[in-house]
Amino acid sequence: MQRIFSGIQPSGIPTLGNYLGAIRNWVALQADHDCIWCVVDLHAITVWQDPESLRRATREMTAVLLACGIDPEAHIVFPQSAVRAHAQLAWIFNCIARLGWLTRMTQFKDKAGKDRENASAGLYVYPNLMAADIHAYHATRVPVGDDQRQHLELANDIAQKFNHDYGVDFFPAIEPLILGPAARVMSLRDGTRKMSKSDPSDQSRINLNDDPDTIALKIRRAKTDPEPLPADAAGLEGRPEARNLLGIYAALAGTDHAGVLRDFAGGGFGRFKEALAALLIEKLSPISAETRRWLDDEAAIDAVLRDGAARAATIADPIVREAERLVGFLRL
Ligand code: TYM
Repeated sequence: MQRIFSGIQPSGIPTLGNYLGAIRNWVALQADHDCIWCVVDLHAITVWQDPESLRRATREMTAVLLACGIDPEAHIVFPQSAVRAHAQLAWIFNCIARLGWLTRMTQFKDKAGKDRENASAGLYVYPNLMAADIHAYHATRVPVGDDQRQHLELANDIAQKFNHDYGVDFFPAIEPLILGPAARVMSLRDGTRKMSKSDPSDQSRINLNDDPDTIALKIRRAKTDPEPLPADAAGLEGRPEARNLLGIYAALAGTDHAGVLRDFAGGGFGRFKEALAALLIEKLSPISAETRRWLDDEAAIDAVLRDGAARAATIADPIVREAERLVGFLRL
């Protein structure tokens, strides 16, 4: 069975983008893979986090994953900082990756913004840590949203250069799994920008803990254009907001853009938005109820994470020890 690894940052309540682009696919992939799901707190501190909020967000993110159907017994869920192998391998990868590769990363450019000199060094080497996350487990498949594509290409470049530099075939190639009609969920206020936890406008996103009234209001206010819905998917060209809302509907209903248009072609956005809000509420309400249930029992969440970390370490430690031997460290 192929091993899967993926991660999510504990930096606030996950959005519909995280859910449709990642978590929902993770749940489905559990049926026929060995999966390792990581709450990446080391990545979170590449930008300032209040320590107490980070602890809370790590538990909240875990609660959401469990509420969505991540299975912590058949698979592994753990916080990144609890398995030392990630940071150890990341250091080796810092010495493999070239500055030029990192400078090309669009996410660094976006996140660092204009004040690049003031970004943390951690933010710059962030993709090396991501590569270490995956390669520490010899994972071969990585389900992510479209925004992580470039980071996974870099993870493959790093593995190839490591293998080449040390004359080995140690780290396998990884296959990105970028799945479904919602691999890139866009902001509800601007169909050309990614839906993100860090967008200053809460109206731009659906949070997984939004209540039904909030969801209905955000969808009603979501930006659209004045045209009716087109007859077919080709008619979505140049209409980013319409494409985005249809993609969300399609992902939730288990169909594609064309499938949604079979029901809504030629209509206005009013009826479609009502149906979309109802579908979102139907799918998300059980998740937020189950998240609250988990959050009432912090000890149970911590037990899941502790057990996951111990099992993750038994896989990662020997792999990273071997990488250290290959680079020439004494094994005393
Ligand atoms: P993060 O925490 O930003 O996002 C977690 C997952 O959600 C996906 N995602 C989206 N998908 C579709 N539309 C959106 N608007 C949207 N926003 C987020 C992301 O693509 C991601 O799959 N660096 C990663 C976490 C990470 C990781 C890893 C992933 C750390 N180590 C190793 C894979 C393998 C991140 O910040 O994800």
